[in-house]
Amino acid sequence: MEWWQTGIVYQVYPRSFRDSDGDGTGDLPGIIAGLEHLVWLGVDAVWISPVYPSPMTDFGYDVSDYCAIDPLFGTLADFDTLVARAHALGLRVILDFVPNHTSDQHEWFIDSRNRRNGREDWYIWRDAAPGGGPPTNWLSNFAGPAWGWDDRRGQYYYHAFLPTQPDLNWRNPAVVAAMHDAMRFWLRRGVDGFRVDVMWMMIKDDQFRDDPPNPAWHPGMSSHDRLLPVYTADRPEVHDVVAGMRAVTDEFPARVLIGELYLPIDRLVTYYGLDGKGAQLPFNFQLLLLQDWSASAIADIITRYEAELPPGAWPNWVLGNHDRPRIASRIGPAQARVAAMLLLTLRGTPTVYMGEELGMIDTPIPPAAVRDPAELREPGKALGRDPERTPFPWTDAPGHDFTTGTPWLPFGADTPLSQQREDAGSMLQLYRRLTSLRRANPTLATGAITNVRADGPVLRYERTLGDRKSRVVLNLGVLPAAGWGGGKVAASTHSGRVGTALEGGWYLQPNEGVVLDIEPPG
Ligand code: GLC
Repeated sequence: MEWWQTGIVYQVYPRSFRDSDGDGTGDLPGIIAGLEHLVWLGVDAVWISPVYPSPMTDFGYDVSDYCAIDPLFGTLADFDTLVARAHALGLRVILDFVPNHTSDQHEWFIDSRNRRNGREDWYIWRDAAPGGGPPTNWLSNFAGPAWGWDDRRGQYYYHAFLPTQPDLNWRNPAVVAAMHDAMRFWLRRGVDGFRVDVMWMMIKDDQFRDDPPNPAWHPGMSSHDRLLPVYTADRPEVHDVVAGMRAVTDEFPARVLIGELYLPIDRLVTYYGLDGKGAQLPFNFQLLLLQDWSASAIADIITRYEAELPPGAWPNWVLGNHDRPRIASRIGPAQARVAAMLLLTLRGTPTVYMGEELGMIDTPIPPAAVRDPAELREPGKALGRDPERTPFPWTDAPGHDFTTGTPWLPFGADTPLSQQREDAGSMLQLYRRLTSLRRANPTLATGAITNVRADGPVLRYERTLGDRKSRVVLNLGVLPAAGWGGGKVAASTHSGRVGTALEGGWYLQPNEGVVLDIEPPG
């Protein structure tokens, strides 16, 4: 088994993790200082959201140089120190790679606008429609049309996100070669893999057909969702692009390619690629997107996902990230403990979003403090991502030992790490018990998943490896519910259970989950 199959991934949102120089924004020395926490927590790899030079119109997802570090976060030397320190501690480092678009301040785009240095066709340029106006009806993910007018060229350029984030033209071999070189730059510096931003959007229709209307759209939804992205995302040719990126990571031993994919199961599994030569971990966001947090919905997801995985493909699971409301806010703090047990006992690589281990919740942001362009461009639709990006509270000291300055976003009311470390009943201690159990018990990390069932509010499944078996029984409801099967309690969301033996006729408390060990026969 590879490290990215048995391991647990932890996402750091660098602006909000730890600030070393008092400017209120987290940085690389801050991440280095925080690595010990990750080791203590029992995760294996750290995925770092973008730290490249950037005008920060989308907080780093607008890259102006793929082979450097933004001074806000530190220096290349800091980055090298981070990789060395992480590796010495047994942690892998996964870099966020943003290949779909650059910043409009990237020299490639400036060259392209000026038709110079052979970069005319590095971006997606089109003439106006015959009657004037944008060439297609394509919409930006951040409100408005996806076509920006450029006076200098007298043409439109395509931007799936902000007008300051022009999309690269991945049909141009020179773009492909430049991006592959950027990947090699970091692979040579020792990074263990990439999380690829908006992987499914990297190729758009070469015939520039209009996207059809979305019949399910209503005014509460984002304006982008007015259309179905039939011609702007998940195009067949994207798989060649992904295979190319995978070939680059395969030039180096033991690296991983993770893809960001907001797609249903039948589509996301295609990103494993032909003969498994695509992404090793195409992100599975089914739990992140789930509206109806119920035993039957989750049992259905697990069963369908397992059934649709191509031969040899390794599954993965995600509860949250820097773009979506936090799990504890979506399902409540008590149920978030059950969700943690689910995440860490399912078959497949778990990705933990920074702060999930503290049970962090979304923090309401007063209008004057809003930073996220998603909210600023379409206010009042709950599209803003600041609430899930608030700074990590390390202690209850002023500035929570996140910063000595003014934090770039306000702190939430979350219980700090230092306090949770002292409390055996905290979310943090539960997380740590669950990661240790997964590390100590190969059945949970690598065993098969069987007998997945919903029984009213109770979700249950078994994990088996050879003659070893673990049983997971989760109460997703707020009333006591009948348990299932028997065994010795190896972990529980509630105190007083661990080590006890359960046999028929036992009950789960509201919002309780247990992991049971079954003794091998004989
Ligand atoms: C991805 C990132 C998100 C960003 C967008 C555009 O979805 O996770 O934060 O805004 O891509 O790069």
